Amino acid sequence: MKVVSVIGARPQFIKAAAVSRALRAAPGVMEVLLHTGQHYDENMSELFFRELELPEPDYNLGIGSGTHGAQTARTLEKVEQVLLQEKPDWVLVYGDTNSTLAGALAAVKLHTPVAHVEAGLRAFNRRMPEEINRVLTDHVSELLFAPTENAVANLRQEGIPEKCIHLVGDVMYDAALYYGEKADGRSQILHHLGLQPGTYILATVHRAENTDAPEHLRAIVEGLAQVAAEIPVAFPVHPRTRKALEAEGLLGLTGARLRLIEPVGYLDMVMLEKHARLIATDSGGVQREAFFYRVPCVTLRGETEWVELVELGWNRLCLPVSGTVVAHAILEMVGKKGAEATPYGNGTAARLIVARLSGEMA
Ligand code: UD1
Ligand code: UDP
Repeated sequence: MKVVSVIGARPQFIKAAAVSRALRAAPGVMEVLLHTGQHYDENMSELFFRELELPEPDYNLGIGSGTHGAQTARTLEKVEQVLLQEKPDWVLVYGDTNSTLAGALAAVKLHTPVAHVEAGLRAFNRRMPEEINRVLTDHVSELLFAPTENAVANLRQEGIPEKCIHLVGDVMYDAALYYGEKADGRSQILHHLGLQPGTYILATVHRAENTDAPEHLRAIVEGLAQVAAEIPVAFPVHPRTRKALEAEGLLGLTGARLRLIEPVGYLDMVMLEKHARLIATDSGGVQREAFFYRVPCVTLRGETEWVELVELGWNRLCLPVSGTVVAHAILEMVGKKGAEATPYGNGTAARLIVARLSGEMA
């Protein structure tokens, strides 16, 4: 069985690392790794391949950045060429980026079945580019690997046939279990940044709804600056966010206590997450990782796809409408614990996905 895995953005390298290891260990399975090139900076791409021991991509399409239409269209055209050449049995796509949608569309148009990892997530907000990507990808996929019960319920609600839906758990949890321990031995980030465990807040922001809305971006930075007066904040900055902060003249609010750093590798990120007092983020992956390490989290959005974390009390939503609102939400959440539960499976998602793909599991 030949599988083409389409990846292109930072979180997809992490998810694919877990699945790729299982795929390559399965007898009779051949994986062709296709990197679209959506993310291309060294610390947004190559660093992850090295650290996560992902094999070199068989193809790198070098798509780069652009408007949604241009980026998706370029990817669609180039993925199609690879699929015509490789003639795989399955195309495996992850999450909800433009690379996900382009990979899925290229495949179904060639009548190649698509398997979608992280199927069924919904924010019920069609203004999010990710929502469009995930809805469309789910509806052209033949195998939908859902990470949570809520995701399964969303797919049923949309009339996806029951036989296509498989609850397997979250591959990000598999990755956290596998790499989480390695981080302790291999990351020096706390030492480099002069941070003591449990004494700082970790922040990340990159969603279009925050970076492209100056009022939200300002509220987040002002809120983090207020918090930093009490608890220092470490903020690894996505390149998109750095550009927006520069354009809005917000870099002046940052400094030694609200400390902007370049994007970090996964092991450093895990280390920063594990030892944070609280995490403030608009990232889907970081929200779950906060829970994996039992660190309270404030999600800097009005809604989340990972609703179980809010229900359990580990996560609180905060639409960033002003600096004061953001600072209050964060400071109130410091020290909070939620209820114990295992909504993301038991770390066997990758294995279940590979078993289903190779027909071992009905
Ligand atoms: C993309 C995904 C988002 C995901 C995120 C993970 C889409 C629509 N969005 O958002 O769902 O959560 O990846 O990080 O697919 N840039 C660089 N260097 C890079 C990559 C990006 O400078 O290596 C800058 C460029 O200015 C680019 C901007 O970041 O225009 C946005 O990059 P893009 O890949 O379009 O979207 P993300 O915001 O990264
Ligand atoms: N991450 C990382 N370095 C960083 C920021 C994030 O390794 O500087 C990791 C993070 O631990 C998580 C993944 O990237 O595993 C999340 O990706 P991102 O926030 O870019 O996208 P999302 O999950 O929101 O799609």
